[in-house]
Amino acid sequence: MRPTVTVSYAQTLDGRLATLDGGSQWISAPDSLCFSHELRATHDAIMVGAGTVARDDPRLTVRLAPGESPLRVVVDSSLRIPMDAAVLARGAAGGTVLAVNGRAPEDRCREAESLGATVLRLPPEPRGGVDLRSLLLSLGDRGVGSVMVEGGAALITSLLRGRLVDRLAVCIAPKILGSGIEAVGDLGIRDLAESIALAEAAFTPRGGDLLLTARVEYPAGRDAVSRAG
Ligand SMILES: NC(=O)c1ccc[n+]([C@@H]2O[C@H](COP(=O)([O-])OP(=O)(O)OC[C@H]3O[C@@H](n4cnc5c(N)ncnc54)[C@H](OP(=O)(O)O)[C@@H]3O)[C@@H](O)[C@H]2O)c1
Repeated sequence: MRPTVTVSYAQTLDGRLATLDGGSQWISAPDSLCFSHELRATHDAIMVGAGTVARDDPRLTVRLAPGESPLRVVVDSSLRIPMDAAVLARGAAGGTVLAVNGRAPEDRCREAESLGATVLRLPPEPRGGVDLRSLLLSLGDRGVGSVMVEGGAALITSLLRGRLVDRLAVCIAPKILGSGIEAVGDLGIRDLAESIALAEAAFTPRGGDLLLTARVEYPAGRDAVSRAG
């Protein structure tokens, strides 16, 4: 059974996750960052794409709220993140899973494993990335019941395209960026009737931002991929 997947990120009013050159720290207000750490503490795993690790080098730990730091998962087909990334350095590797596919050189995989990281060798998806459904099922097999995905844009888009997202928790900051990295890219939707709907949507003001939480509902007949796989 695959874990439940909650996608959480901060965006500007015009739907940007970062500036054109990738700057995203910080779109949201400090109080929203606390919310993000509270949410981390309630999940079994936090997942990000390799692009986010390469750009931001996040620690992916719980620091601004009480609670344990969950497992860290980095989706990184070719294992391109540096071995001194914060998710691997200073003993962090023991709590980190690197999800790779056949593009990852075996010597890099062994180096990461020698640091203590778990390397999951997964099949590729048609676009060359890691097959995300296989990754979620593999995490489920390891006892992970819930995953919080923090970005970036490519990973969020792939998960939505694959109908693998169950919930959203989006912090909307009262800012406009214009051009920038859009939070959600092309999903192949060309008809409004095919749009992904947000059910039970709740808007909560938080530290000057607006927090939207909702359940994701896919169009009839094209339901979310079953959690049973
Ligand atoms: N505002 C926020 O809340 C927030 C949160 C997080 C990040 N960000 C920003 O987002 C930007 C990074 O976003 P990004 O889109 O460049 O990177 P990303 O989504 O973090 O990572 C994308 C990379 O993951 C790898 N990947 C492997 N399998 C994949 C799959 N099936 N689907 C998608 N990706 C897969 C690919 O690299 P390989 O092909 O090398 O495997 C891909 O290029 C940064 O600017 C960061 O600051 C903002």
